[in-house]
Amino acid sequence: MRKKIVAGNWKMNTLPAEGVALAQEVVAGKGTVCNCVNFIVCPPFTHLSEVARVVKGSGIALGAQNCAAEEKGAYTGEVSAAMIAALGCEYVILGHSERRQYYGETSATLNRKMAQAYAHGLTPIYCVGENLEEREAGKHFDVVKAQIEEVVYELTPEQFSKLVIAYEPVWAIGTGKTATAEQAQEIHAYIRQVLAAKFGAAAAETAILYGGSCKPGNAAELFAKEDVDGGLIGGAALKAEDFLAIGRNGFGK
Ligand code: PGA
Repeated sequence: MRKKIVAGNWKMNTLPAEGVALAQEVVAGKGTVCNCVNFIVCPPFTHLSEVARVVKGSGIALGAQNCAAEEKGAYTGEVSAAMIAALGCEYVILGHSERRQYYGETSATLNRKMAQAYAHGLTPIYCVGENLEEREAGKHFDVVKAQIEEVVYELTPEQFSKLVIAYEPVWAIGTGKTATAEQAQEIHAYIRQVLAAKFGAAAAETAILYGGSCKPGNAAELFAKEDVDGGLIGGAALKAEDFLAIGRNGFGK
């Protein structure tokens, strides 16, 4: 049985006190959602230690939104995998389209970030997805395949067994435009096929999350699909009730 995951990517939102309050509300409401759902919250770095205290013992896991490609040293402004692991993070989002687009992250950078994450016991949530132009040109399968081959194919089978993937079409992120459940299923199944070509049967166990304007109103339809194992939620993760409702509507009470 694959893990069912609902992960909140808070991006660069909330001040520390607001983040703590949001995490407290998520913890308080978790009981209204099926125990089968693994919730993860990914606040900004600055809130990690305080949010870690809030979620401790609640069954809600903590993740970071990024980590450095280097172990440590003279890298002004960077935050290492060791640092976020020491604060209690179990997960780290890597390769988000905003990092690729605005901060020039390439597959070469991401290989090093993945290595750092695994070296410090973190589970990467590796994001893939095409932009609108690529989708309209019918290149989405090729784009996602390359993003997987260049980064995921470099993992050992043991590392791969822990990986979480998030498929996030760039044209659906923060736009209110969601991929249809059929579009999501089609590409999730394809992603699983690409993973299986390298890792065989282990690909059947990989959680593949959908991201991009996922909301309480569309979670049920999306998560009902065979290869959609949950969501990576941006905007709707900033309201505890919406975040919880995505889990509830998607996977039950
Ligand atoms: P969104 O963001 O839910 O606001 O579209 C998803 C993401 O970028 O992870």
